[in-house]
Formats: sequence, C-alpha cells, structure tokens
Amino acid sequence: MDKLLITGGGTLQGEVRVAGAKNAALPVLIAALLTDQTLRIRNIPHLRDITTTLELLGHLGVSVQVDEKLEIEVNAADLASRCAPYELVKTMRASILVLGPLLARFGQAEVSLPGGCAIGSRPVDLHLKALEKMGAEVSVEAGYIKARVPGGRLCGARIIFDMVTVTGTENLLMAAVLAQGRTVLENAAREPEVVDLARCLVNMGARIQGAGLDTIEIEGVDALSGAEHTVIPDRIEAGTYLVAAAATGGRLRLRGISNGLLDAVIAKLDEAGAAVMVGEQEILLDMTHKRPRAVNVRTAPFPGFPTDMQAQFLLLNAIAEGTATVTESIFENRFMHVQELQRMGADIDLKGNTAIIRGVPHLSAAQVMATDLRASACLVLAGLVAQGQTVVDRIYHIDRGYDCIEEKLAQCGADICRVSDGSQRRLAAVR
Ligand code: EPZ
Repeated sequence: MDKLLITGGGTLQGEVRVAGAKNAALPVLIAALLTDQTLRIRNIPHLRDITTTLELLGHLGVSVQVDEKLEIEVNAADLASRCAPYELVKTMRASILVLGPLLARFGQAEVSLPGGCAIGSRPVDLHLKALEKMGAEVSVEAGYIKARVPGGRLCGARIIFDMVTVTGTENLLMAAVLAQGRTVLENAAREPEVVDLARCLVNMGARIQGAGLDTIEIEGVDALSGAEHTVIPDRIEAGTYLVAAAATGGRLRLRGISNGLLDAVIAKLDEAGAAVMVGEQEILLDMTHKRPRAVNVRTAPFPGFPTDMQAQFLLLNAIAEGTATVTESIFENRFMHVQELQRMGADIDLKGNTAIIRGVPHLSAAQVMATDLRASACLVLAGLVAQGQTVVDRIYHIDRGYDCIEEKLAQCGADICRVSDGSQRRLAAVR
C-alpha cells in the first residue's frame, strides 16, 4: 500500500488549479442511464471513485469513451445488466445512485446494499422509502436491494425527507424525471452538487424547478436526450488547500473555483485571521507569518458548514491560538482522525459529537493511518505543520477524492512524496 512521507515546517506559497467536483461528477455520469443517447461530460477529476463509477457503468453495459483530456462520452443505449454488484458497491457507496435511474428507465434494478463505513452506518432507508412512495416494490435479499415497478413506470409523488440527504435527493431527482406526473421533494438537499446534477438533467430535457432550494418540483417526461455538461469545481478540494495554506502560514491562489461554493468555509477562515480575497474564478488566501485563531465550527447541510471540511478545520484548531469546539451534526462517527492527531501531540477531548480543541504551538511527526477520505486529508495537513517526517498510511482513501495531491502541494513548496511499500522497504534497507 502506498504511503505519503511529509516533512513539516514549511509554508505553502503558490497556486493550485481546482479539479472538477467528485460529488458532482459521480451523479452526472450515472445520469447517462436515463437516456439512450450520448452524454458528453467535461472537467471530470482523475480520481479512484471516478474509475469505480466507470467500471460500474461498464458492468451495466454502458459504453464509455475517454479522451486524452479526460472528457468522457457515456451511452446507455444497450444495457446488458440492471445489477450493481457487491464487489463494486463495497468500494464506493455512491453506487446506490444507479437505483433511481435504473428504476426510472427500466422499471427494475438490483443494487448491493452499501455497507456502513468509517464515518457511520450511513443507511439508505430514506432512498428506499421515497422510491416506494413512487410505486416501486423494494425488498432486501442476501445483501441486495431488489426493486421493480409493477406498473412499469414510476408515478410522481410528494416526498418529505426525514433528514437532508444529498444522494437521497439525487437518486429521487433521477427517478422523478421520467416518472408519470409531478414529484415534489421536500427537505431536499441544497448542495451545489445537487444543483449541478439538476442542471445536467434539464439540459437532457428534464423539467425541474427549485434545485438549490429545499423544495424541488419535477414534471416527469417520456424520454430524455443526450447533452454536454461541464462539472462544477470541487469546493471540498478547494477548501482543503485553503486550510493547508492557513495552517502553514502561507499564501495560496486557487484558480478555477466559482463564487458561492465556499461561503461558510471562507467565513470561518476569515474568523481564524486569514485575509481571503474572492475573485470571479479564483480565491486568494494570505496568512503569511500568522498563527490562526481558534474558531468554533458546527457542521450542517448546505449552505451551512460542510461536514467534508470538519476534519480539516479540526486540524487548523489543533495548532491555533486558543480553544474551540468542532461539532459534527451530520455523521455519528466522523472523529476517527482525532486519535491520530492526539498521537501527533494535539490536545483534543471528545464529548459525544463535539471535539474540544486546545491549540498547541506545533505538532510532532508520527506514523499515522488514514481511515476515510477527509480524515486522510486532515492527516496530510497535519504532516505539513508537524516537526519531523510524518508517514501517512492507507492513502488509497485520499486517492478516492484528491487529484494529484502530492504534486499540487509540492508545487507550492511542501516537502511531500509518495512511496509504495516495496520502495519503503528498499528505503529502509538503504539507511
Ligand atoms: C454525500 O454523502 C457525500 N457523498 C458525502 O461526501 C458527504 O459527506 C455527505 O453527502 C454529506 O454532505 C457523495 O455525494 C457521493 P447523506 P451521502 O445521505 O449522500 C443519514 C466525501 O467525503 N441518512 O447526505 O451518503 C446519513 O447516515 C463524502 O466526499 C440516513 O439516515 O450523505 C447521514 O447521517 C463523504 N438515511 C445523514 O443522513 C438515508 O437514507 C446525511 O447523509 C440517507 C442518509
């Protein structure tokens, strides 16, 4: 397994181009299942989760063409299967997103029930209840969700989500666009990635009102056409690099990031003492020679503070001036990174879903292990500010969501490199 070796103490100075959003690209690629025509998608990030999604689509019989610029053409005219197998779903929970489109277009689907993961049990009960409301018959047998539509076509319905669910909203959006009649989604997710999916579906001929608000109305149509779509920038990748610059007392320009995607994060960086300038398609953060002030954070659905930025801000607070709390209100177990930070000298107490962090002047390098995508990003940032060489293990987590992270950090002055187990052993032999 690859590891990242990071020698801390430097500041990040330079420029990073933000990649396309993983959590927008996944549902947009899967939306190709809704039509027999070609969907052409641009600004797809080079990530393991994208590869997994393309494998899953390929397994279903979708034809996938990838060009040298990673522009992707997908066409689901001739599907060979309606089943998303365990081997693929277990590596990527977002595979559940094929359920809505397969039911909408074919009236039948089988999807392995996604298991829990490091950050929580992450059930999909709200997805299934909503699809049943639209006329699907759903059962769970031998770890598989088996769904069919007796009448052949889903019927529009009024759906009120008990909790805000991002992929639940996306699954039901894709189910509703081909349903008979009107569907209203209430307590819908407002994330930019949901809005991006809706924009793509409208370009394909869907009739959707209210994406980005907590009530979305969809008028079903008989068929959708192909379209061309450019995925929005990845706000979580962007926010991660901004925190890296703030934590190291550096100065960073982000290119290719649209306005309005990071307002809650920028407000907290500003509170922490960073000078943040927001341009048309760029953000400049300057924290030169400054130590961040501790800031309280509580995660919430968009437009609140994103849970996917919680671990990164917990790290920022770990080396900040003062004491702060970080409260995780979305997932029940998203503090796996805390133990690893404590091993690096962070002063953190956990009380239920709240972490109390007393800032320390610096962390000390250690061998640490990533447990989930954003926790691994937090550990990389910890390595940047720790004294000595930190080794981050199990970085396959990070490869799921960060495109070329070591290259992007190294080009801003970070002392970081990737080693595989084999070379690590060889490295040890040389010493
Ligand atoms: C999406 O996950 C994102 N993944 C996550 O990003 C993100 O952390 C999360 O939304 C919250 O913003 C993708 O978009 C692919 P939820 P999702 O359904 O949709 C509970 C990353 O780092 N819930 O909004 O799976 C659930 O347990 C990933 O890129 C139910 O109880 O999250 C959680 O507590 C990590 N029943 C809360 O709702 C359901 O049927 C929010 O989950 C569905 C959800």
